[in-house]
Amino acid sequence: MRPTIKNDVFTLLQFSDLHLFAQPEKYAHDICPEQSFLKIFEQAIETHPAIDLILLTGDLAEDPVDTVYNRLKERLSRHQIPIVCLPGNHDNYPIMLKIFSQPPMTCNKITRLGNWQIITLNSQIVGEKQGSIAAPEMAFLQDTLSISKDYFSVIALHHHCIPTGSSWMDHMQLEQSEQFLKTLQNYNNVRLILSGHTHQILETHTAGTAILGTPSTCYQFKPNSKHFAITPEPPCYRSVTLLPNGEITSTIHTLIPT
Ligand SMILES: [Fe+2]
Repeated sequence: MRPTIKNDVFTLLQFSDLHLFAQPEKYAHDICPEQSFLKIFEQAIETHPAIDLILLTGDLAEDPVDTVYNRLKERLSRHQIPIVCLPGNHDNYPIMLKIFSQPPMTCNKITRLGNWQIITLNSQIVGEKQGSIAAPEMAFLQDTLSISKDYFSVIALHHHCIPTGSSWMDHMQLEQSEQFLKTLQNYNNVRLILSGHTHQILETHTAGTAILGTPSTCYQFKPNSKHFAITPEPPCYRSVTLLPNGEITSTIHTLIPT
């Protein structure tokens, strides 16, 4: 039986791989990550009439220091939209937990929206580029899914769990991807897995679950490339609509040049 909660349509926005520098004017790969992110964030705020939740799926900082996270909080909190952050390989999670400790900007592990729940995972191995879900994090995921079968679930994490086709990037994939996906098949309420890290679009479906990867808010990586390569694709974010019947729709939005 579904919980007696308001079943509504919810809009979730995902921004990933901001790679903000301590110096906001600094460039990388011919783009200023700070300007690029702020432009596409403001575009998104103006585009969507109602936003229920914003997810920042890791690599918020290229320089993972207090000033970067504080600046981000100062710029984003003014909109009073709930924002949930999770760490990528470049981030400092203890600093994130310290600075994003109060609504509207948190590192909440579980967020409920009607008959949906958004579960965020930490897939960081400190000092490494590839990802892993440590045993306690996997236990948390399984416990949460077990006790909340009345909710449709979105699982968000930084690292990708399906290959991109770029061998250099797939060396930095989630280590236990196969086991992770197999475990999720034990729960029929997982409708979406959202990741970042790849700086390119990933989209596939498996056993009723959509697996979607979202490009960066700054520079993008060339698909199907053996070695690291940048491609001149625009900054992006993703919108996801969560429907009360457990279905989702999703769109990638690119930065409109001004
Ligand atoms: Fe990353």
